[in-house]
Amino acid sequence: MADAPVPGVHPVERRRILPPYSLGSLEDYADIGGGRGLEAARSMGPERTIEFVVRSGLRGRGGAGFPTGAKWGSVARAGGARHYAVCNAAEGEPGTFKDRALLRAIPYAVLEGLLIAAEAVGASETYLALKASFAPETEAVSRALVEIEKAGWLGDLTVSLVAGPEEYLFGEEKALLEVIEGNDPLPRWLPPYVHGLFATAPQLGWEASVPGSDGAAGLEANPTLVNNAETLAHTAWILAHGAGEFRELGTESSAGTLICTVVGDVRRSGVLEVPMGTPLQSVLDACGGAHPGREVRAVFSGVSNAVLSAADLDTPLTHEAMTAAGSGLGSAGFVVYDDTACMVEVASTLSRFLHVESCGQCPPCKLGTGAITAALDTIRDGSGSNRDLDRIEESLRIVTDGNRCYLPVEELSLVSSVLRTFPGDFAAHIDGSCPVGGRKIPPPKILDIADGIASYDPNQERKRPDWTYSE
Ligand SMILES: Cc1cc2nc3c(=O)[nH]c(=O)nc-3n(C[C@H](O)[C@H](O)[C@H](O)COP(=O)(O)O)c2cc1C
Ligand code: SF4
Repeated sequence: MADAPVPGVHPVERRRILPPYSLGSLEDYADIGGGRGLEAARSMGPERTIEFVVRSGLRGRGGAGFPTGAKWGSVARAGGARHYAVCNAAEGEPGTFKDRALLRAIPYAVLEGLLIAAEAVGASETYLALKASFAPETEAVSRALVEIEKAGWLGDLTVSLVAGPEEYLFGEEKALLEVIEGNDPLPRWLPPYVHGLFATAPQLGWEASVPGSDGAAGLEANPTLVNNAETLAHTAWILAHGAGEFRELGTESSAGTLICTVVGDVRRSGVLEVPMGTPLQSVLDACGGAHPGREVRAVFSGVSNAVLSAADLDTPLTHEAMTAAGSGLGSAGFVVYDDTACMVEVASTLSRFLHVESCGQCPPCKLGTGAITAALDTIRDGSGSNRDLDRIEESLRIVTDGNRCYLPVEELSLVSSVLRTFPGDFAAHIDGSCPVGGRKIPPPKILDIADGIASYDPNQERKRPDWTYSE
């Protein structure tokens, strides 16, 4: 039934969609109930399928936690001649590896979820977009696609694999559509359910495209569904096992299980599936906790949310609890720093990541993240003053002005939270010392996780703000 162990995956209780081993074939998937969800969706029809997903309480696992059933409903109802469904497997969030773990171990579930979504929203063409550099995942999903086609799962649907670039913005849903259309990952103005794939309706101006554009005057809005790979795999499980069963784990507002990634200063980096509501501390413990003699100082959920300090480690992994703690779940990729990490250095590395990855279509975002990173660098290097802290505050006030996408909001949440939570590190640097020794912090853009060790992409450190690379 199984071939190779999935790298970095820990055995955990109540696993649902991520198996401990890679499935060898579609037959293995069928043995654990694969295909039943698609059958159920086809026999129930779009309306009842969407109702099923609404009742399950599933929320998107790509970062924002948007209710999946409501999203499917708005695309299904949006009118227009053509709809599309897209699986977002770009997985660019630092500290996140769970979509790649899923694609390696059980690509069938992601594809089944995509086919169910297509049936529900009335799409006949679907796309699965992942990075060109994701070689094992491309191989696994291509093989699975051949098998499901042979088994007759596709019916009239088509699934196209799209190999995209390394940029962080590739995973942003409006940029993802641009990449599928053959362009650079530059976010558009309007969301995919309003201005979808290959839309011909204008995005701006007097004739702004509207939801439900009916193709009058030859203009099509092509409402498009974009869901994260893990979200889609959950929908296959829900349709096969039931909405109520899905709700047996998790909380009222955060139902089901969650696939977490843990990297950084823990004994064993890895990917694990836990019931939503599991305390963050338990997830860190499953990864062996901090290194001997060290203590966890800070945990970041990717680069998208405010930092959590040691005092927050009991926070349950739900949307509501993470928001109440002043942060957010993001895509449940946790980057852990222990008491040898200087938070000025960490803030500088993560802010630089966002500055470099910003596309520059909105000047306050590109210039603001640049000014904040420069001031953080000055403080880190020991030549900073309170004036640099003021500069950071000023730039944080404008960085989100006129933003097309969420990236500068991430900068605002992340940098302001580090300043608030670790003021002592900044004060010490301004006084000319580093309280913890200032080890170098690489950007946690994960290349792979094997044998409990995460490797980060060394090229990220050479990447320039114009998306070229230094020698
Ligand atoms: C800068 C940026 C990068 C993103 N990268 C990813 C990504 O790599 N994968 C992903 O699924 N969602 C990513 N998202 C979120 C997507 O825009 C979108 O919300 C998500 O794919 C929707 O799927 P869901 O409803 O299933 O969560 C990113 C968002 C932003 C602002
Ligand atoms: S907000 Fe920033 S990253 Fe997003 S589109 Fe504008 S410049 Fe690009």
